[in-house]
Amino acid sequence: MIIALGADHAGFKLKVFLSERLRELGFETLDYGAQSEAPYDYPDAAFAVAEAVSKGVARRGICVCGTGIGMAIAANKVRGVYAAACNNKEIAVISRKHNDTNVLTLGARIVSDETALDIVRTWIATEFEGERHESRIQKIHRKESDPGQRTNFQGKATICDHPLVQHKVSIIRNKNTSVKEFRELVQEIAGLMVYEVTRALPLAEIEVETPLEKTRAYTLEGKKLAIIPILRAGLGMVEGILRLIPNAVVGHIGLYRDPATLLPVEYYCKLPGDIAERDIYILDPMLATGGSASAALSLVKSRGGRRISLVSIIAAPEGISKVHEEHPDVEIFAAALDRHLNDHGYIIPGLGDAGDRLFGTK
Ligand code: PRP
Ligand code: URA
Repeated sequence: MIIALGADHAGFKLKVFLSERLRELGFETLDYGAQSEAPYDYPDAAFAVAEAVSKGVARRGICVCGTGIGMAIAANKVRGVYAAACNNKEIAVISRKHNDTNVLTLGARIVSDETALDIVRTWIATEFEGERHESRIQKIHRKESDPGQRTNFQGKATICDHPLVQHKVSIIRNKNTSVKEFRELVQEIAGLMVYEVTRALPLAEIEVETPLEKTRAYTLEGKKLAIIPILRAGLGMVEGILRLIPNAVVGHIGLYRDPATLLPVEYYCKLPGDIAERDIYILDPMLATGGSASAALSLVKSRGGRRISLVSIIAAPEGISKVHEEHPDVEIFAAALDRHLNDHGYIIPGLGDAGDRLFGTK
């Protein structure tokens, strides 16, 4: 295991001590400064160590300052880094078991060299427990995503407002866009949204041999995925998503909205037999009243589905609120949040009838 080490002036000596002991124990260490006891700003070392961990150059990081607190605050600013100041062994163990920390910070003015080494050895040896802690960790992973690409709607839905997505949405809204172009763009938008929707997928560390050397790399842990379009319009998103996650299996749910009552009517359902074991993405470009999406979610849950996300392109606040209230466990993604619904249940400004525009049936 490669361990990145960093310190400020106060932590310099302890960092040197830990680095030597870790190498004796067989670990590879990378030193990101400070290189003396001359005044040194702790964020510089914390960011360098955290970046090394975030990019996979090192598996874990250890930062030492006077108390460990400043280092933890700074390291936690780097995406993918979960740092905790652990100046005793018990907290270090919990930080691994429950919080899956990948950076440990220590206070050289708080702990002796030998205590620090004991904490470090225990922290490295302790595994994350997963189970109930997994979903909590996943929530943190989602929260830390770049705010430039993710906007939260009242904590109920993630709006994928990446400029490329917004550009393409502007074209499919245009009533003069051809069926051919509409179809292509819906697939492209769905494909771009996959980056956000799958952001929390777990990774496994592997070793690969490049033409130059052996290195550690990260690969998808092999989660089983399923996508379930709601017919008809959800079909328009399938290929765009399969291009990026080609091993996902595809179920289908047929629902249409009764034009008089606006209530969903089910006419088809074919889901994978092992749906309970899969991460599920339900696809429907339009989330209007939320009736169709909510009915589809209930159906999937009644067949054993548990970890489910809903992926829409245009969402109305009414639809998001309904789905959130009836299925608070489901994460909702949309490319655009529109104003409201008109008297016929159409999203305003929306893009009209998505099914008709995809299949040219108007
Ligand atoms: C559209 C759309 C959604 C539903 C959204 O389907 O594709 O499934 O309406 O509305 P809701 O949130 O108010 O339920 P539609 O009933 O037009 O069927 P189609 O996809 O076969 O055209
Ligand atoms: N279904 C659509 O296709 N469009 C809307 O605006 C609402 C429901």
